[in-house]
Parts: sequence; structure tokens; C-alpha cells
Amino acid sequence: MRLAIVILGAILALPAQAASPYVGQIKATASCAQCHGLRAPAEGSIFPKLSGRDPEYLKKALRHYRDKTRHSEIMNAMAGSLSDEDINDIVSFYSNVKP
Ligand code: HEC
Repeated sequence: MRLAIVILGAILALPAQAASPYVGQIKATASCAQCHGLRAPAEGSIFPKLSGRDPEYLKKALRHYRDKTRHSEIMNAMAGSLSDEDINDIVSFYSNVKP
């Protein structure tokens, strides 16, 4: 019984800790893809490409938009409601997409 509780606890704790590219894809589809695309933004669009980029760079950029140390009206609004978990999930998706 005790062991079962320990195992259940470990399973429940997992998704909250590990960044998930699958969850990230769902979040990116809902919130980011209309501008940035999933693989790439529309040809000739003004939106920067996110796929295949350095994960540390993307996380830092999103945190800076969130705390408004980097200014962009659109991205300050988009990143304002992201949690650290959202950022980790979304970045683990985009950084793993092969451009
Ligand atoms: C309505 C369009 C729009 C949406 C939706 C949007 N973005 Fe952006 N994004 C932009 C624009 C425009 C820029 C360029 C802003 C600038 O000049 O800093 C940008 C820039 C970025 C950058 C910086 C890229 C670089 O090269 O420095 C990142 C990272 C980013 N967006 C991530 C996201 C994520 C993650 C989402 C979803 C949560 C998202 N964006 C949703 C329009 C959008």
C-alpha cells in the first residue's frame, strides 16, 4: 500500500516537472502558430521563425517579453499570461522541430 502511494506520487509528479513537446505543440497551436506557424511562419511574413532555434535563447526571449524588459506590444501581451511551465513546454516543442 505504502509503495503504491509512493509510485502514484512519482507518476503524478512527472508531468509537472518534465517539459513536454507534445503539450507544447498543443499550446503553440492554440496561441502562437497563427503568427509564427508550427514549422515556419508564412513566407514573406514579418514574424520571426521559432522552429529549430536555440532553446535557451527562446526561453530568455519569452521571459523578457513577459516581464516587459523586451518590448513588443504583441509579444508582451502574448507572453504576459504564460507560466514557466508553458514556456518550457512551448520551447521544448519549437526547439525540437527540424526546420
Ligand atoms: C499576433 C501575432 C503573434 C502571436 C500570436 C505570437 N507572436 Fe511571437 N512574435 C510576434 C512578433 C511581431 C514578434 C517580433 C517582436 C519583436 O520585434 O520583438 C514576435 C517575436 C517572438 C519571439 C522572439 C524571436 C526572436 O527572434 O527574438 C519569440 C520567442 C516569440 N515571438 C514566441 C512566441 C510564442 C511562444 C507565442 C505563443 C505563446 C507567440 N510568439 C505568439 C508575433 C506574434
